[in-house]
Formats: sequence, structure tokens, C-alpha cells
Amino acid sequence: MSNTEVFGWKFSKFINNKNYDFNRDKILEVCGEDNVIDAYDLISGWQNYNPTPLVKLNKLSKKFNLNNIFYKDESKRFHLKSFKALGGAYAVQKITKGNKSITVATATAGNHGRSVSWGAQRLGLNCKIFISEFVSEARADVMKNLGADVIRVKGNYEASLNECIKQSKINGWEIIQDVAWEGYEEVPKLTMAGYSVMIKEISNQTDQYITHIFLQAGVGGMASGAIAGIAKYFKRIPKIIIVEPETADCVLQSIEAGKMQKIDIKKESIMGGMSCGEVSLVPWKILKNAVNNCISITDENIAQTVAMLEKKYFSNESIIAGECATPGIISLIAASENKNIKHKLELNEKSNVLLMGCEGDADENLYKKLLNEGIKQLT
Ligand SMILES: Cc1ncc(COP(=O)(O)O)c(C=O)c1O
Repeated sequence: MSNTEVFGWKFSKFINNKNYDFNRDKILEVCGEDNVIDAYDLISGWQNYNPTPLVKLNKLSKKFNLNNIFYKDESKRFHLKSFKALGGAYAVQKITKGNKSITVATATAGNHGRSVSWGAQRLGLNCKIFISEFVSEARADVMKNLGADVIRVKGNYEASLNECIKQSKINGWEIIQDVAWEGYEEVPKLTMAGYSVMIKEISNQTDQYITHIFLQAGVGGMASGAIAGIAKYFKRIPKIIIVEPETADCVLQSIEAGKMQKIDIKKESIMGGMSCGEVSLVPWKILKNAVNNCISITDENIAQTVAMLEKKYFSNESIIAGECATPGIISLIAASENKNIKHKLELNEKSNVLLMGCEGDADENLYKKLLNEGIKQLT
């Protein structure tokens, strides 16, 4: 990759948050500072725990003349291949305290359910997983192999969540959901606290101050959990940029309007975990003031990014990145190739950019398809 070659990648929309006001205390109050501290203490004690690698995308930072681009490689998170392993499994342990008479239940697009199934399996609990008709059979099989009963529901994610709530009420199951709603906030706070562990690890992995962080959002749990980690562990607060699919930009639209907005998703993005129409209640309390900017992207460059990561275009080592691991890179490239936005974001030779490589080949079939497609585009 030469320094003159251009990608020609574009973002869809970019906005500023006019209500930006980062307040460490408020953020930690929302997530629960004790939860944030406890999550690291507990999770770092789990068998086979290892911090996931913080990889330098040195070839990409050289190209755009940035000081560093760090990529947090969550493909190596336990054997679950996504950051979600930190949230659901932690909440299962906190809520059930290992009481084997408790059955846990959740609705999921895949990765959260995998974490809940694994958390239940670790503690010998029964587990019920509700999935929509859009969740692949490969993802369902992974959860079955972790000992869960997988129940497929006609309709979308919301339908699977409604069915999960209904059946849990009837059967007395404990719902371990990563999404919050009125009156259901404790478990989502725990899952967010679990995600803050990524930031604690990063604070141990580099002594460079992060200047920019790109955070993917579906319902905003990962992003707000990471922000709680930033409030707790980072000495300097980086610019925080939320990335979403253009067809499901509920955080962007909510930030723009200054209040939560529900979106009617007309076309599902390939970034399935991020194809969400509404911000979750607890994350919103954090995101509304802690985020500097929001950016949205299409699916167009995903396959190529998957292939470029695997073929070492960006780093010295090969990286296995699933669809939801790519948007940080795509939006950073699109922003860096737009002079106006690059200037607005103050992306320059002093910048240390952090990108979240949220998942590896969590859906192996989709990963192979994207990789092959991407390789064809490279040649
Ligand atoms: C694999 C995966 N699933 C889901 C999400 C969305 O997380 P959340 O719904 O907590 O915002 C992400 C990242 O944003 C992701 O990478």
C-alpha cells in the first residue's frame, strides 16, 4: 500500500454532538463504579483468562501519517471470538451466584447468547436462548453446543425478545438481557461493566495516551461500557466517535435530535449485531453527553476490509475479523480521506487511534464468504 494510493471509501453521514459534556462521575454513577471494578476482578480470575491482543495497524497509521492505530483484537476473547464473552457470562454469574436451581434466558442476535450460554454452562445452569428468523443456523449451533436450548421465533429480534420475556414470566426464568428498558436496568449495567474490562486491559497494554476511539454501536451497550472504562481508567479523555450502519443509525439520530429516536430498519446490514433500531435506555444516559461525533457507513467496504486484515495490508500480523470488527477501520479510512473531517477530528501525526476489533469469525460461514469476496476485490 503506497502513501499516494487512495481507498476512495466514503462514510454516509457525520455529525457533531452539540450536547457533549464528558463527566466521569456521572458516567460511573450510571454504570455503577463498583460494577466496573468488580467486573475486572472477577473476569480476570476466570480460568483461561488472558487479555486480548492490542495490535498495531502500523501500515495503516503510516499511510495516513497518524502516530498509532491500535486494534483491540476480540477474536481471541476466551474461545467465544467476541467481546460479548465479557458481558453476558459475567451477568449470569452475578445474578445467579451459581445457584443451580435457576434457569437463565435471553434473546440474541448471536454473540450475546453465546456468552450467556457459556456463562450458564460454566456454572452448570439451564439456559434458554431465543433467536429470530434472521440468526444463522451456524450461530444457533454454537449455542446448542454450549448446552443451551435454542428456541427460534418467527419475526425479528424484537419478536424473539418479546417471546423470551413472555416465556420467562410463565416459567420463572431469570432474564439475562443486554438491552435495558423501563424497570430492567440492573443486568444491562452488569453487561456494560463486563465490556469495560477491554479498556482496563488497554490501559495496561500501552502507555500512549489514546486520542481518538471509534466505538461500534448496535443498542449502545458495548460503546457505553467502553466509555465507563474510559471514565474509570484513562487519564486523558479521547475523542469518542460512534460508528453505525447507515440503515440502523439510531445513536446518530438520537444524538442529532437530543433525545432517543426509534428507527424503522428498512434493510438489515450485514453487520447483524449492529443492526438495531433503538438505543438501549442505560447506554443512552451515557452516550448522550459522552460522545463527540457519530458516523455511519454502508456495507460496501466490509468484505475488502476483512480480506485486507487477513492478508496483512494493515499490520505485520494476520487478523481474523468478522463483519462487526470492520466499521472502525472503514470509518477511520473514510474520515482520513476527507480533508474537512480529518481536520475537524484533529487526526494528525500526534494521534493515537483506538479501534475495537469486536469479533473474529464468530459466524464461520459468513466470515469465509466475506473473506473470499474481499480477496476477489483485492486482485
Ligand atoms: C459482534 C457485535 N455484536 C453487537 C454489537 C453491538 O453491541 P451493542 O448492541 O451493545 O451496541 C457489536 C458492536 O457494536 C458487535 O461487534
